[in-house]
Amino acid sequence: MQYNKEEFNQIIRNRRSIFPADYTSEKVDDKVIEQMLENANWAPNHKFTEPWRFKIFTGEGLKKLGKIQSWVYKQVTEADGTFTEKKYENLLHKPLSASHVIVIAMKRDPQNSVPETEEISAVACAVQNMYLTAAVYDIGCYWGTGGITYFEESKEHFGLKKEDKLMGFFYIGIPKKWPLTTKRTPISEKVEWIRN
Ligand SMILES: Cc1cc2nc3c(=O)[nH]c(=O)nc-3n(C[C@H](O)[C@H](O)[C@H](O)COP(=O)(O)O)c2cc1C
Repeated sequence: MQYNKEEFNQIIRNRRSIFPADYTSEKVDDKVIEQMLENANWAPNHKFTEPWRFKIFTGEGLKKLGKIQSWVYKQVTEADGTFTEKKYENLLHKPLSASHVIVIAMKRDPQNSVPETEEISAVACAVQNMYLTAAVYDIGCYWGTGGITYFEESKEHFGLKKEDKLMGFFYIGIPKKWPLTTKRTPISEKVEWIRN
């Protein structure tokens, strides 16, 4: 197919994680979010289990997400003695600095037809599709895995069962500016070619 290969390489290499502090207060058009989700749905996955599940919080929904995550945080950390008011407040208010927040989850195949790691990998591929779509539309986003992501107690609030996984929160907003720098060490340090 006659794709523009140079442009494609640029999209991949110019994609950036852009954080809520760098979003304007403008809203991203839901149609762009729909494109991101549609592209997520075309990620590779083994045995067509299509394990990605997304819950999109926007508008008043962002307040709801803030309430859910700060409440879960409080329950868990008051019990284990690690609660801090600062973190609680951050979890309560942080979603409001985004246009949309997508809860990223892995729904385990009921037949366990592929290993769990493959389901998690497929979801990560789906998230990369969202990242790349956002880059093409000049939308800022980042995948966050802090807060309540890994609390078992979080799952029920997002309709997940024990065998499923909450994999984080995808923050989306209009960027104030496009960050030009990030870093990677050369690929040559991470690969080995075996030719004979
Ligand atoms: C699975 C995963 C989890 C991440 N979790 C966080 C996080 O909790 N907090 C954060 O600031 N960034 C998080 N990031 C985003 C990275 O910080 C970001 O990708 C990295 O800084 C490189 O920047 P770039 O995406 O612009 O190349 C996560 C990225 C991935 C893939």
